[in-house]
Amino acid sequence: MTSIALIGYMGSGKSTIGCQLASQNHRKFIDLDNEITKFEGREIATIFAQEGEEYFRQVEEKMLNHFCEDNVIVATGGGIVMNQNSRDVLKNCFQTIWLEVSYSVVEERLQLDDTRPLWKQSKEQRQALFERRQGLYEECADIRVSVNERSPKEIATEIERSI
Ligand code: S3P
Repeated sequence: MTSIALIGYMGSGKSTIGCQLASQNHRKFIDLDNEITKFEGREIATIFAQEGEEYFRQVEEKMLNHFCEDNVIVATGGGIVMNQNSRDVLKNCFQTIWLEVSYSVVEERLQLDDTRPLWKQSKEQRQALFERRQGLYEECADIRVSVNERSPKEIATEIERSI
């Protein structure tokens, strides 16, 4: 059966909502960043620092491919849509759900975060990245769900009704 992929910007709640959705649906939850960390034996920030973003995107693409027919719920990384091949996999092999969040909500949620390499840029760069990705999320999404000011349970229940 087709797997479900959750996409959206950093801090949109993909892992929290994915976990909630999986438990409500009795399906297995996969956090793609965790799988990459396990496979590589190093943290995401270390992979970025040692190999660069392009390498990370290739590993991310392989991992995404790996889970497409497993009937699982996958929380992807926020930048997966930057890779054309990953976008094709999302469009062709997954039911893809975009967790649409406002930039101001992300800023508030991630203000103290220092684990995400691409969050450590200037605010202008983070916001430009956010804007650039909106169209790519839209291109890949079968379903879009607004996540601002709503609980994970509420959001997961809305997703459950539409899948
Ligand atoms: C990234 C988002 C991160 C992680 C990596 C790159 C991005 O995942 O994959 O740091 O490019 O937006 P989250 O969206 O779970 O933070």
